[in-house]
Amino acid sequence: MIWVVGNRGMLGRTLEAELRRTGLSYCASDLEVDVTDRAQIERYVADKEIYWIVNCAAYTAVDRAESEPAMAFAINEKGAENVAMIARSRRARLIHLSTDYVFNGRRKKPYTEKDRPNPTNVYGRSKLAGEMRVRGTWENHIILRTAWLYDRYGSNFVLTMLRLFEEKRVIRVVNDQWGSPTYGADLADTIVEIISRDDVPFGTYHFTNEGTTTWFSFAKEIYNRALSHRLCRLHDRAFIPITTEEYPTDARRPRYSTLSKTKIKKTLHRDIRTWELALDSCLTGIRKERLKIDA
Ligand SMILES: NC(=O)c1ccc[n+]([C@@H]2O[C@H](COP(=O)([O-])OP(=O)(O)OC[C@H]3O[C@@H](n4cnc5c(N)ncnc54)[C@H](OP(=O)(O)O)[C@@H]3O)[C@@H](O)[C@H]2O)c1
Repeated sequence: MIWVVGNRGMLGRTLEAELRRTGLSYCASDLEVDVTDRAQIERYVADKEIYWIVNCAAYTAVDRAESEPAMAFAINEKGAENVAMIARSRRARLIHLSTDYVFNGRRKKPYTEKDRPNPTNVYGRSKLAGEMRVRGTWENHIILRTAWLYDRYGSNFVLTMLRLFEEKRVIRVVNDQWGSPTYGADLADTIVEIISRDDVPFGTYHFTNEGTTTWFSFAKEIYNRALSHRLCRLHDRAFIPITTEEYPTDARRPRYSTLSKTKIKKTLHRDIRTWELALDSCLTGIRKERLKIDA
């Protein structure tokens, strides 16, 4: 069976739903199987026949990580190593999730898997350390780097914006950080495809939706599409582009973090949809859920 590690997180939840839909046999855990505790995870897998592990568990509080580096490294580095060790001992293939924040963002063209990572914050350093542990522990792994992840649930930019549209007339959003939004459902779909095909060469891959935008343009697109999906009925919202300096955060973010998807597209022989189409699909899902709740 497939073991989804971190199934109550944003991606883990979507992945579990996708596995349930496809009928693949899986088990799933979150904090009750602490990835920092090797004995605990050994006990969990002891009576299970596991042939794929997808590690979605992570410390993802990017700003808080600046003041909690030990915790970030315990989960993102040591936890990743523990999961890789279990994968090795069970001879299970491993998909480990990582991030665009392993790059410093000083480039102006998409980062490929061959580009040298050089993170600018604690979270990025802890995720890069986790990647290195996975590579050093078990060769039968796929490291999947993604970026700007959002979904119908969890804590993410799309849901934050939908809330802000209700609360604020003027919305100020950073317009000098560039990247690619990624719909969790599209990433989960790709993970299931990798597992189902079983012939994807091990190594590192990048996956996001296609296209590059700024948080500001992303916010405006969410607003325009939210209006047309009737997720927001307030037509008077104004958007003001601001600079990173005007929105100080504890962690420094990369200015540019678009990931090249050439390798994964060539490997899977398929295209990836644009972030605008994926966003629309997510908003359609949110609208349907809200209608169900109201009914
Ligand atoms: N979110 C993004 O924008 C983004 C961007 C690029 C890459 N990624 C990567 O994509 C992956 C999935 O991200 P996500 O946004 O779905 O993360 P998430 O929502 O924070 O989910 C992570 C899950 O892991 C759990 N967890 C934390 N510590 C654990 C531990 N010691 N043992 C077991 N489980 C533990 C978390 O529980 P608690 O919530 O209770 O701590 C949470 O349920 C991560 O590898 C992340 O680094 C995310």
